[in-house]
Amino acid sequence: MTLSIIEKINNLKKEKNAVILAHNYQSAEIQDIADFTGDSLELSRKAASTSADVIVFCGVLFMAETASILSPNKTVLLPDKTAGCPMADMITAEQLAELKEKYPDAVVVCYVNSSAEVKAISDYCCTSSNAVNVVDSIDAKKKIIFVPDKNLGEFVKQKTGRNMVLWPGYCPTHIFATADDVKKIQAAHPAAVTLAHPECPRPVRDCADELLSTGQMLKFVHSSDKKEFIIATEIGILYTLQKQNPEKTFYPASEKFVCPNMKKITLEKVLFALEDNKYVIKVPYDVAQKAKKALDRMVTVLPKG
Ligand code: 13P
Ligand code: SF4
Repeated sequence: MTLSIIEKINNLKKEKNAVILAHNYQSAEIQDIADFTGDSLELSRKAASTSADVIVFCGVLFMAETASILSPNKTVLLPDKTAGCPMADMITAEQLAELKEKYPDAVVVCYVNSSAEVKAISDYCCTSSNAVNVVDSIDAKKKIIFVPDKNLGEFVKQKTGRNMVLWPGYCPTHIFATADDVKKIQAAHPAAVTLAHPECPRPVRDCADELLSTGQMLKFVHSSDKKEFIIATEIGILYTLQKQNPEKTFYPASEKFVCPNMKKITLEKVLFALEDNKYVIKVPYDVAQKAKKALDRMVTVLPKG
């Protein structure tokens, strides 16, 4: 009898006591085999609390690094070692160190979409779902350095009114939809509620009714009595939205909203990862110890809403 890829994955998962975590931007086939899907904060919390021995992380490198830092005794596998996040690579630890020298009294908050080295010299880490609460939890007199996402940083600055220095990083996927794209879809579907990710640039954020992380979008739609939604974020989430809400209609703000790195993970690669124990993501001990302080603060701050 020949086993299907999914059967092989499930057998290996049992054999190795492995859990599959998948980000909401993963393709439908990956979301369907995952034990748990979620946004960056939900996945980090899950990685920190799982009793599995092996975590297969279907996402990008910074997520697997975060899982490994929070769960140092587990084997964390990233099925494609080239699945990175270009935004995370937009600031190096050297560049952040220079910025810290320029503003020695500032508190550093880094978005989880950053390297382990950057996290290691940050005071706090945050995700898009709890960035406002993390910044609100810091002494009001303190200046804040926020890296690397200028769009999320601007959003937090608007919400909190805090004195913030922003790094000019951005997500190359979230710049695909323009405000004109969103306005056209809004004109065609006037009853639809527009949900945008805070990684979108300001003109798109200004067209949205709500600015939410991917996990918050799922919760919002689930509890809303509205029937139509325009979604301004990576299109992988439309699969989950539709699956969880079959009676509601979703319109992507742009078909171009695709993160090529998130889409590198395939069923075949998940199977190879489990078969050959690859690619093991391990952060050097010193870096991990320092980064864990900022990450521990992140996982204890609740999301907004
Ligand atoms: P969230 O799922 O936390 O909203 O993050 C979006 C993202 O871009 C992850 O890379
Ligand atoms: Fe990075 Fe943007 Fe892809 Fe998220 S969607 S992993 S921020 S490039």
